[in-house]
Amino acid sequence: MTLVLNTLESGEVAELIKELLATKDSEVEIVNTAEMKIMHCVGCNMCWLKTPGVCAIKDDYEIILKKLVASDGLWVVADTKFGFLDYRGKRALDRIVPMLNMYIEIRDGWERHQLRYHPLNFGVIYKGNGNKELLEEWSMRVAMNLGGHSLGVLALDAHQEGASPAEANENIVENAADAAEIAETCTDSPEKIEHVIILNGSPRVKKNSNTNKIIQTFAEGLEAAGITHKLYSLSNRTEWDEAREAFMTNDNIIIALPLFVECLPSLLLEFLSALPTERKQPAKLSFILHSGFDEGHQLRLGEKFLKTLAPQLGCTYGGTLVKGGSFMLRMRDNSYIKKMTDKMLAAYATMGLSFAHNGNFLTTDAQKFTGSEQNPWLGRSLFNLVIYRIVKRNFDRFAKEWGCTRPLDDKPYGDLT
Ligand SMILES: Cc1cc2nc3c(=O)[nH]c(=O)nc-3n(C[C@H](O)[C@H](O)[C@H](O)COP(=O)(O)O)c2cc1C
Repeated sequence: MTLVLNTLESGEVAELIKELLATKDSEVEIVNTAEMKIMHCVGCNMCWLKTPGVCAIKDDYEIILKKLVASDGLWVVADTKFGFLDYRGKRALDRIVPMLNMYIEIRDGWERHQLRYHPLNFGVIYKGNGNKELLEEWSMRVAMNLGGHSLGVLALDAHQEGASPAEANENIVENAADAAEIAETCTDSPEKIEHVIILNGSPRVKKNSNTNKIIQTFAEGLEAAGITHKLYSLSNRTEWDEAREAFMTNDNIIIALPLFVECLPSLLLEFLSALPTERKQPAKLSFILHSGFDEGHQLRLGEKFLKTLAPQLGCTYGGTLVKGGSFMLRMRDNSYIKKMTDKMLAAYATMGLSFAHNGNFLTTDAQKFTGSEQNPWLGRSLFNLVIYRIVKRNFDRFAKEWGCTRPLDDKPYGDLT
């Protein structure tokens, strides 16, 4: 069975979707999410460490999870914003995490979470100005994480009268080219800055947010150089109005964010889509992008998207600081984890100093900061043989501390395929 999550506001496209998928050899069920209550993933980790496979948010997404357990393919139908899925489409994907479990293994040469159930193939049907190349790469990466293959990326508008998706794509590609050009023309030459606005784009509450730990340490570096900053946490919607105002009126902005399902968290996409498109004054927009897995390559698609995002928000691109391996920062109360993560955080403080001096992340220091793109061959070979068991034992221990009473690879909805 193939499940189609139609996240478009209207279910009118149902016939069109059926037509598009008519040649695919599978029974198709279309679920219109606009008629359902689906919230943003808040990254609470309950579905991995406390109630394995069961999301803590009690809304209609459980209906979808049960259907996914009975499916071997998933298409998401979404509108686009900034060339990518809009926040409604991304929201439906961010919530898919309970389909995987906490355990980590090396699959196809890369760190991945274990499948809780079975492989899922994945594809995208998009409306509007999608960056097809980016969406294709994203679809492939998501599918690989789900143990399947990409079903493809289809433009809905190409099947509707009067639309010109080719033209729309050209605009996005132009934006991307502009961003790349800006990045190339910037050198290591310092830009004088005095004050920076920092947005924490994680949906996780501030006290548990790894991004927050990163920002705090990075800001120590800024402060040491006499640069002031103001932080807004988007997990707290009461800060959105002030954050929007600060974004529009300041000239040096950093968005720090965790990688969520291979790109931006849906909550951050929602915030950004409500920003005015015209700015009164120019601004430089830089990013700190971090992730659970420590391989730099896993963040490169997210980085590619951020490069195109800055000019679409009327800003010049100030580069992206890219680093993996941040998922344990929130557990720094544990002395062993504290010791393991001290070095990483100290490096962020150094990058704060570097940013204070240069005013951007387009420097060679920032490029080197990522570390290795992929684990070395020996590490990958040993992982599934030895390291896997050590990591598994640690996750089991964390789960016990969280009061988990089920195995972390539990299948709460059976396995119906
Ligand atoms: C819904 C969700 C999706 C995630 N997707 C990815 C991913 O695709 N790749 C990755 O390496 N880490 C992924 N992570 C891990 C986060 O990037 C990582 O834990 C980060 O430190 C979270 O920062 P925060 O605590 O500020 O939210 C994901 C986490 C969640 C909750």
